[in-house]
Amino acid sequence: MTFTEIINSFKTKLNPSKFMYSLEKEAIFYSESENSTEENNSGENLKSNPSFNSGDNSVNNSNAEKISRNKEVPLIKLTNVWKLYQMGEVEFAALKGINLEIYEGEFLVILGPSGSGKSTMMNLLGCLDIPSKGTVYLNSKDISKLDESELAIIRGQMIGFIFQSFNLLPTLNTEENVLLPLEFQEEDRQIARQKASYLLEIVGLSEKKKNLPSQLSGGQRQRVAIARSLAVNPPIILADEPTGNLDSKTGDYILDFLDGLNKREGKTIIIVTHDLELIKYATRVVYIRDGEIEKIEARTKDEPGTENEPNLN
Ligand SMILES: Nc1ncnc2c1ncn2[C@@H]1O[C@H](COP(=O)(O)OP(=O)(O)OP(=O)(O)O)[C@@H](O)[C@H]1O
Ligand SMILES: [Mg+2]
Repeated sequence: MTFTEIINSFKTKLNPSKFMYSLEKEAIFYSESENSTEENNSGENLKSNPSFNSGDNSVNNSNAEKISRNKEVPLIKLTNVWKLYQMGEVEFAALKGINLEIYEGEFLVILGPSGSGKSTMMNLLGCLDIPSKGTVYLNSKDISKLDESELAIIRGQMIGFIFQSFNLLPTLNTEENVLLPLEFQEEDRQIARQKASYLLEIVGLSEKKKNLPSQLSGGQRQRVAIARSLAVNPPIILADEPTGNLDSKTGDYILDFLDGLNKREGKTIIIVTHDLELIKYATRVVYIRDGEIEKIEARTKDEPGTENEPNLN
């Protein structure tokens, strides 16, 4: 089947938002890492690329209108949020009464050790799950009051996910995987291709456009998934251990790129991680442990790390 046939069959058979949701849910974990020799030029690319600056991007503009422009009103708000998992007879509380407000334009790093509830929290922030108790508001709307198709639309238009685990369609090559969300947004074909090319350049994969996922290393697949998550230029980017599978140079490159999106385009970036190194990008750090917020620290970007860094072991 050609790419166009695949897209058309998905368009006719499936609600596209549901399809994107199923992609998110059925993520496969690629664990290999690899080395990269690409140069870090993400900042310059971002500045000079006409189709990716907010002013020229109709998708971005329409998304931007959907989010609150009022910096006084939180974009995402969690009020006494609990997430409980039933384990046979026993109930396990992965999140215990979280209160958190996230504002547009923040670069929030949620930091905590393994098992502290970061991915659980990210699923709630990204409207992939609803809380057992308490309320999650997105743009002042209680997400538990929205049905699955409304949630899927919000996710598709407003949130770019960079998961701890990813799923690329195995029969589509690198370029086609990145084009996929653009096709569902019914972008002009030519513009869609330009954007996909630009994003693949950003993540250093211009040479691998025609490779299938099986012909890429684990780290390269992760970068394709990152490019795909950025394709519709969402106003909110949620990333779960975005550098987990990458060597440090490629990890820095991706983080610098996200930093550029935050500084220049005012995108809201939320990263969950156990990696203290990522604090340097944050405007605010939320420390979580055993499902509870330990403390919240406001930061001036690029400030050296605090002396009282927590022990995350
Ligand atoms: N479906 C589930 N059923 C039962 N317990 C779960 C489930 N999902 C997560 N948990 C538990 O909830 C806690 C938080 O899990 P979560 O995946 O949010 O941790 P994390 O901070 O993202 O960890 P890591 O850094 O290892 O990814 C863990 O103790 C985990 O075992
Ligand atoms: Mg996790």
